[in-house]
Amino acid sequence: MIRNQEQFDAVIKADQRIESDDWMPDDYRKTLIRQIAQHAHSEIIGMQPEGAWITRAPSLRRKSILTAKVQDEAGHGLYLYGATETLGPDRAELLDLLHTKKQKYSSIFNYPSPTWADVGAIGWLVDGAAIMNQVPLCRCSYGPYGRAMVRICKEESFHQRQGFQIMLSLAEGTNEQKAMAQEALNRWWWPSIMMFGPPDTESVHNARNMAWGIKRYTNDELRQTFIDASVPQAEVLGLTVPDPDLNWNDERGHYDFGDPDWDEFTRMVRGEGEMPAERIRTRLEAHNEGAWVREAAEAYATKQQRDAA
Ligand code: 3HC
Repeated sequence: MIRNQEQFDAVIKADQRIESDDWMPDDYRKTLIRQIAQHAHSEIIGMQPEGAWITRAPSLRRKSILTAKVQDEAGHGLYLYGATETLGPDRAELLDLLHTKKQKYSSIFNYPSPTWADVGAIGWLVDGAAIMNQVPLCRCSYGPYGRAMVRICKEESFHQRQGFQIMLSLAEGTNEQKAMAQEALNRWWWPSIMMFGPPDTESVHNARNMAWGIKRYTNDELRQTFIDASVPQAEVLGLTVPDPDLNWNDERGHYDFGDPDWDEFTRMVRGEGEMPAERIRTRLEAHNEGAWVREAAEAYATKQQRDAA
């Protein structure tokens, strides 16, 4: 049991775990609540772009795979709200912060998913980027978050594989299907690389969260790893990455790539435009429609406690 700053520093230095009942600096607690809550919000808002395709999936098999994936995202949100609650706030409070835009969700979910190929591109690129970002989080210094990540990452691998397989089926299909896959890659490539956050030079939390063992790699390091892994996958698909500056740099042993549109990133993070408004509207509708489930669960729990007393 950690009781003070000195013991906390020693545990971080030894790359060990901090647990919910340990003493921790207020700022360590605050940055974890911020990051894990926003991660949870991203998971449940992230259900929307793909959820809209469950009733329109091209086959029963695709429908069942997509249903399983969207259900997984809901579960990821619940794990992460649970991890956040170990730091103090309760779920109702966190959801209110999301609903009133006082807390964010990932910029990546403020883009539309107009075709079935977008479902493929989201699985392949967005869940692929999520895996890049989340595998290191399995080693996060805060125990409940790191352990939640282990289970989530196992499911993300299925998400990425099913997305890539959708893209492969389309890329090997008719000319129209291949064109649809290429258009989806054009829509999702840049938002996916911006998902890793602003450039390290603009990152507010990189340095301190790396020192605390919350982040293991910087935004730019993870972005580069993702690009290096994804370009060969696009080649397997026979699709063109929409970046004219993309070029393998032998000296660096990485791909050089063009500049993302950071003004667009800022607009998406701020939640500007119609899509973010629709995301929160849909979220609030779901939350209000689900009120009876929460009331029933609370009534049941109260009765259980009364019977046990
Ligand atoms: N979207 C929205 N906000 C973003 C962002 C993004 N893509 N990237 C950064 N930001 C925000 C940060 O939250 C921070 O704002 P805040 O102080 O108000 O929270 C600000 O921009 C500065 O960014 P930093 O780099 O300083 O912030 P972090 O150190 O927190 O790094 C992060 C950002 C890499 C997203 C980090 O928070 C993180 O790793 N979070 C956990 C993973 C996560 O949330 N992923 C989101 C997608 S979930 C998902 O993909 C689900 C999958 O199933 C599809």
